[in-house]
Amino acid sequence: MINNVANKKKILIGTVLSFTENPFHYGLTDSVNIAENTAVLIDGNKIKEIGSPNQLVASAPDAEVYNFQEKLLMSGFIDAHAHYPQTPIIASWGKRLIDWLNTYTFPEEEKYGNSKYAEKIAELYLNFLISNGTTSVSTYCTTHPESVDAIFSTAQRRNMCVVAGKNAMDRNAPKALLDTPQSAYDESKKLIHKWHRTGRLRYAITPRFSPTSSPEQLSMLGELWAEYPDCLMQTHLSEQVDEIEWVKSLFPNSRDYLDTYEQFGLLGANAIFGHAIHLKKREIDRLRDVGAGVVHCPTSNTFIGSGLFDMEHIQKQKIPVGLATDTGGGSSFSMLRTMASCYEIAQLRNNALHPAQLLWLATMGSAKALHLEKEIGNLKVGYIADVIAIDLKSTDVITQRADLAIDIWEAIFPTLMMGDDRAIAATFIAGDLVHSKKM
Ligand code: GUN
Ligand code: ZN
Repeated sequence: MINNVANKKKILIGTVLSFTENPFHYGLTDSVNIAENTAVLIDGNKIKEIGSPNQLVASAPDAEVYNFQEKLLMSGFIDAHAHYPQTPIIASWGKRLIDWLNTYTFPEEEKYGNSKYAEKIAELYLNFLISNGTTSVSTYCTTHPESVDAIFSTAQRRNMCVVAGKNAMDRNAPKALLDTPQSAYDESKKLIHKWHRTGRLRYAITPRFSPTSSPEQLSMLGELWAEYPDCLMQTHLSEQVDEIEWVKSLFPNSRDYLDTYEQFGLLGANAIFGHAIHLKKREIDRLRDVGAGVVHCPTSNTFIGSGLFDMEHIQKQKIPVGLATDTGGGSSFSMLRTMASCYEIAQLRNNALHPAQLLWLATMGSAKALHLEKEIGNLKVGYIADVIAIDLKSTDVITQRADLAIDIWEAIFPTLMMGDDRAIAATFIAGDLVHSKKM
């Protein structure tokens, strides 16, 4: 399409979607702005102004102009929970969580002590994200520090905001993947010093889940987090019923699954818990009271057969909720496919999510859960210019439905239900055009 000129002023013209509030808690008209034929002026890596195309072009005559016409301009998607080393094993057949980890995941993860291999997959993975309109991710790595270096150095070259952390695992996994309480502490600390807040990168202390960490390891990671409270802490919580039973047998003195983290200092406002499906009242109350976030991983929860996340109840508690692919447990890299699955799961709980709510979850919802909402997740003046242009007529099937739309939400919804990477017309990261389709 167009030649990207780094750091040059750019004007993007299209239908601009931005949030003023959380549509789960405010009326639609109070929470979302949609403005047709509107221009976004990008100066360097930031959004400088949003306004009328004629005025902005006149005020910045040297800017490069990208006219996306009726395409939707909005924040890039933010995938709040993924496993980049599982890219090669996405869509692996026939297992549930623990069997799936042992059969497909762990053998693949054993390869990431090899920096070359880790870098190759990191590169492939970030390419998949960008072509799917995902501009930020919080990803697990493997136990190897090399796997963390690979994703951070690849993200840094692309100026992407990426959260990542070394998996800590000292039991119940193949020997080749195990660390120890001390090595998990030492290696994580070293990686924090090397990467945390280097440019747009953030470190997350990452005990994989309590079945693969001994109490000693969880305790040492709790100490590490107390030393670096500004880091995020990401892990899994209450994903499958069998897993919860296993946790009970491994931690007989814990009150519940959340307590296996809480008792070792691994619960706080900077914690994010993936899945969080089968929660007890005490767990929900504690998450709400400390301000921790949870991440809904709908394609994974259906693919691995985990269960139906209770969006309505969790939103009522005002617990921050992000949306995520959880690839390779999830079956797609696309946050559009993830929104479709999110909608379908909520329908099974008698809750029809509005397209504004789905788009919120995929952008500001994830940004808030990851504490990045002051910089990314919205198309607003002062925000970093991670912007996507979405084609609302990317396939014949979508087009014939969108053509009947009586309002903008009806025009958007078919793409949320049936769209994929074909709908992503362009992706900008920190003001640079990094992906575009022929228009
Ligand atoms: N629980 C512990 N590890 C994993 C993982 O890699 N994927 C999913 N979906 N759940 C997990
Ligand atoms: Zn996961």
